[in-house]
Amino acid sequence: MNNLSSLGIIGLGTMGSALSENLMNNKISISVFNRENENEKMVVKNFIKKNKRFKFLRGYNNLFQFINSLKKPRNVILLIPPGKIIDTLIKDLIPILERNDLIIDCGNSFYKDSIKREKLLKKSKIEFLDCGISGGEEGARNGPSLMIGGNKKNFKRIFPFFKKISAKDLQKNECCAHMGGMGSGHFVKMIHNGIEYGEMQLIVETFSVLNLKYSYPEIIRFFEKLNTSIDNSFLLKSTISILKEKRSSGKYVVDEILDEAETNGTGLWASIEGLNLNQSNSIMISSLLARTLSSNKALRKKYNLERSSSKLKIDLDNIQKAFYISKCLNHYQGFQIIHKAKVDFKWNINLSEIARIWTNGCIIKSELMSEISTFLKKDEDSLKTILTFGINSNLALLSFSAAFNYWISLTSEKSNANIIQAQRDFFGNHGFRNKNTNSIVSFPWTK
Ligand code: 6PG
Repeated sequence: MNNLSSLGIIGLGTMGSALSENLMNNKISISVFNRENENEKMVVKNFIKKNKRFKFLRGYNNLFQFINSLKKPRNVILLIPPGKIIDTLIKDLIPILERNDLIIDCGNSFYKDSIKREKLLKKSKIEFLDCGISGGEEGARNGPSLMIGGNKKNFKRIFPFFKKISAKDLQKNECCAHMGGMGSGHFVKMIHNGIEYGEMQLIVETFSVLNLKYSYPEIIRFFEKLNTSIDNSFLLKSTISILKEKRSSGKYVVDEILDEAETNGTGLWASIEGLNLNQSNSIMISSLLARTLSSNKALRKKYNLERSSSKLKIDLDNIQKAFYISKCLNHYQGFQIIHKAKVDFKWNINLSEIARIWTNGCIIKSELMSEISTFLKKDEDSLKTILTFGINSNLALLSFSAAFNYWISLTSEKSNANIIQAQRDFFGNHGFRNKNTNSIVSFPWTK
């Protein structure tokens, strides 16, 4: 094999290996690199062995040899964990890469780090793209959704490869798109993950409500029905598979799992960045809080109180409606953050294009929200019912509650923030806007 490889992949973890296989299945010649140390032994060797049927695969433990196995100008994909490790790697790459070589960070990096890295690489005339990949291992292997930020010329350079490996929407268009300027790919992926947290939590809360009255097989049947409706989603489908999993003893696998949720941090970033952009992303925040609250089992055990369950009834149709409304609002909140980022950061992001590449033609697009709002109004009582049921059953429904409060606030012209403004003026002389004159004034409050 004398020809040089079209792409280089650094990092043969779960995502790196799966994406490499996807590239090879699409007949793209690749070189792969993974470091060799105490914790990562024989990674490259084993990968090559496992994939020996592919003729256009080369593996390296030596970064210099790896880089020299690539066609010029080189395209190097990073699939390694976010953080310092990427900065260290970039430092090692700079002296061995050449002008016009391109690095594409396909990990879950923080978007502000990507902006800094592009600046650093620019000094050496090395190009950079930030790319969010969604779909987990399965997606990476068979077709992920790819959100790419950075210079459009670089996007066009990498698109012919990514086009082949990405998922396809219902119209058979590739789920791979240019988001906007540097950082926007990782930003959109970060918000995607915030929405993901919200949707996971809403499924879990729906499960908790159902679990008070129904058996696992009944819950599975309900979720299966939901999954043939507009609520159909990858996360719901995955949850159904999870709930079905049993040991040979007949015991459900989920019941073996310690009920402390973990995170990799992207949901926290999404929550903070949403707030930084002055957005009310309460559903992703509530889902993050639910994970945080769950994470100290010992404390919960210490304060555990036995409570009787509710005598109230709730019908399945109501649960489905409450789930649907909350899911729409969760997406809406996420899209609002992206919209604000587009304006504030001057990114040329196309929101419906994001909805397309995320959901294979899902209807939950922010542009549709005005039509959806009349539709949601009709079913808003379902949220009240599920919350009343939750309160009476002593169930913490953080995300349903966030969805309800957000929905009511969003659709109520009058808020009580005038009193907040008055309080701020009272003790801090901060002033307030007079709604009749539209001017900022202060009032000599009697103290
Ligand atoms: C995806 C996922 C993926 C991963 C999250 C999990 O779109 O493929 O979002 O990136 O599942 O990082 O995040 P937590 O570990 O924080 O739940």
